Amino acid sequence: MSLRIETLSKSFDGGASVLREVSLTVHDGEFLALLGPSGSGKTTLLNSIAGLLTPDSGRLLLDGEDITHIPAGQRRFGMVFQSYALFRHMNVAQNVEFGLRVLKGNARPSKAGRRARVAALLDLIEMSDLGDRYPAQLSGGQQQRVAMARALAIDPRLLLLDEPFSALDAQVRQSLRSSVRDLQRKVGVAAILVTHDQTEAFAIADRVAIMNDGVIEQIGSPDELRQNPGSPFVRRFLEAGA
Ligand SMILES: Nc1ncnc2c1ncn2[C@@H]1O[C@H](COP(=O)(O)OP(=O)(O)O)[C@@H](O)[C@H]1O
Ligand SMILES: [Mg+2]
Repeated sequence: MSLRIETLSKSFDGGASVLREVSLTVHDGEFLALLGPSGSGKTTLLNSIAGLLTPDSGRLLLDGEDITHIPAGQRRFGMVFQSYALFRHMNVAQNVEFGLRVLKGNARPSKAGRRARVAALLDLIEMSDLGDRYPAQLSGGQQQRVAMARALAIDPRLLLLDEPFSALDAQVRQSLRSSVRDLQRKVGVAAILVTHDQTEAFAIADRVAIMNDGVIEQIGSPDELRQNPGSPFVRRFLEAGA
């Protein structure tokens, strides 16, 4: 799977452009971070990729297929947001199964198939014993792992993560960061992580795209960016965050 984003632009209610002809390719299996200050357009870009927002212009190509106008629910992308957004009235197993129940037609596994898939996912996040618990009975880190399992349940073609660790305290954040990275590797799915936290982006990502005011200022591996900041903005931003 590779995702090509081509000259994507977006403004809200006829206002100034929040995304300005953003182009970017996400490679197969890659972990890409979108890093930038608050308001730089990271979430708008991620939501446009997810299909939750419609761009004003530009295209999204998934393995060459134009998906710009395919509804979010049909893109088979897994999503995890800052608020865990687990269903409070469903237990852990039901939350993870949810993504499978909403699949349509042939894509939807049988009841036994769903149960096996949920068991495998709970095993993957090391929460096999906690399938009967309700979200309120879990720590923030556990809830976020369940959100991750739910996103992975549909065998997504791409994983989209918007500040998934920000609501957690520093220690939990760090351990969850590496477990998310491990899960992503194990599953082999490409991921895009939105974060304003440089340490986080550099720790987790193969490549980091630095956003500023609706454009990608620079994209590269953490080492490339550190050694060769390509603009005054990038240099200042990285120095401030170090
Ligand atoms: N639904 C919306 N309506 C109007 N303006 C919005 C909306 N969503 C985001 N914006 C504006 O777009 C800009 C980028 O926001 P966002 O993509 O959320 O940035 P980031 O995720 O980098 O903090 C901000 O100026 C924000 O106020
Ligand atoms: Mg945001």
